[in-house]
Amino acid sequence: MAQMSGDNKLKVYVETYGCQMNLADTEIVLGIMNKSGYSPTRTMDDADVVLLNTCSVREHAEQKIHQRLGVIKKQKGDRPGLVVGILGCMAERLRLNLMEKHKVDVVVGPDEYRKLPQLLEGAFSGTQGIGVRLSRTETYDDIVPLRTGGISAWISVMRGCDKFCTFCVVPFTRGRERSRSLRSVVREVERLVEQGFHEVTLLGQNVNSYRDDRFDFSDLLAAVANVDKKVRVRFTTSHPQDLSDKLIDTIADHDNLCKYIHLPVQSGSNRVLEAMKRTYTREYYIELVRKIRRRIPNVALSTDIIAGFPTETEQEHRETLNLMEEVKYDGAYMFKYSPREGTPAYNLGNDVTDDIKSRRLSEIISLQQDISYELNKSLIGKVVEVMVEGPSRRSRVRDKKSDIQLSGRTDTNKTVVFPLGSSKPGDVVSIRIVRASAATLFGEVAGSI
Ligand code: SAH
Ligand code: SF4
Ligand code: F3S
Repeated sequence: MAQMSGDNKLKVYVETYGCQMNLADTEIVLGIMNKSGYSPTRTMDDADVVLLNTCSVREHAEQKIHQRLGVIKKQKGDRPGLVVGILGCMAERLRLNLMEKHKVDVVVGPDEYRKLPQLLEGAFSGTQGIGVRLSRTETYDDIVPLRTGGISAWISVMRGCDKFCTFCVVPFTRGRERSRSLRSVVREVERLVEQGFHEVTLLGQNVNSYRDDRFDFSDLLAAVANVDKKVRVRFTTSHPQDLSDKLIDTIADHDNLCKYIHLPVQSGSNRVLEAMKRTYTREYYIELVRKIRRRIPNVALSTDIIAGFPTETEQEHRETLNLMEEVKYDGAYMFKYSPREGTPAYNLGNDVTDDIKSRRLSEIISLQQDISYELNKSLIGKVVEVMVEGPSRRSRVRDKKSDIQLSGRTDTNKTVVFPLGSSKPGDVVSIRIVRASAATLFGEVAGSI
């Protein structure tokens, strides 16, 4: 049992960086901590324990954490009792180095969160603690994540990645692929529906290689979709190699499976794709996109792209731009290549200079902006179904009641902003689009469903 200060529970504050899997892991961590007598708090000021759930995917992500730890170290100077822990992918990658560099109390990798209460207990009495073993079986299947309300819930259905793309740290920080049982995921979704959630997102670094005995990811998606036909079901991230015809059919056949697929391509050049060990060719990928669009006509697609992979030539960069024009993604996450020690690509050097990488990246971003804008503009005048999420980002920072705007998403994952009516979070409303930017659609209420 954790120590108690008076009658009050000890308070834990968590900051989360990185991908949605990390956000979902934070809820698992809070579930574990809650069971051991801690309660979550929203500020560092009244926390007894501060945890950073970290990301290692690019150098920049790690730099941010090093800076943040500098600030936290000062807090710790003012409040000697404060216990500080590092979780997540940086904990797994840097291990004891983190402890030495930042004098943190505990370092715990993604597969050892069950040990947190015990390690923190030690930290309160002055013993540093580390847990960074990776597991072949840990899925936290039995842990009830502590979610903070809202309409949408994340569910990690598989962990780890066995793909070993040559640029990527994830297989090293998250370990081998393993899946939860279909039954337990379905049970969790049933509970979430009872609690009033309107949307669930099934998560995995490589979610479509999910497997539970004879069930594959399509079976899981169908089972989850059938729990409640009114609940929207999303999933991410799909690897192009594992996106089967059966999966495409399953998405097409269920109204509540969202018509949106995040399908990272990384590059449009076959030589670069091979050097990345992505296991598919440009032609295979484009044919896959055609197949998806034939079967699911209004599907939205997004992608991830890396600019300046080692040895990438100008011509190969143009092949990426050209693929983007051919596919016309609704959206993209675009990155400069970042060398990660320990990955195979690290040994290829980093010969594309930072200036060239920046220029290639900005060409990629600007092309994507144009494409997103064109696609969004084509929706002007159309009526779309939007699930209301809450006040729009701008309305949250302004407080004039009269011009509050709501925002929500279409099932194709487009953000739509519209005037406050009588609708509440979770409602699905029909919105007529009147204006568009590259990132957002703006509309007016056309009726509710
Ligand atoms: N599992 C997902 C992606 C995980 S990481 C998938 O396979 O699609 C998210 C994205 O970060 C990757 O798709 C890739 O575009 C980017 N990324 C990963 N390692 C990177 C690196 N070393 N430098 C730049 N971008 C990287
Ligand atoms: Fe990384 Fe590739 Fe695995 Fe995605 S599929 S997490 S990019 S190794
Ligand atoms: Fe980052 Fe780890 Fe996710 S490296 S992207 S937090 S799996």
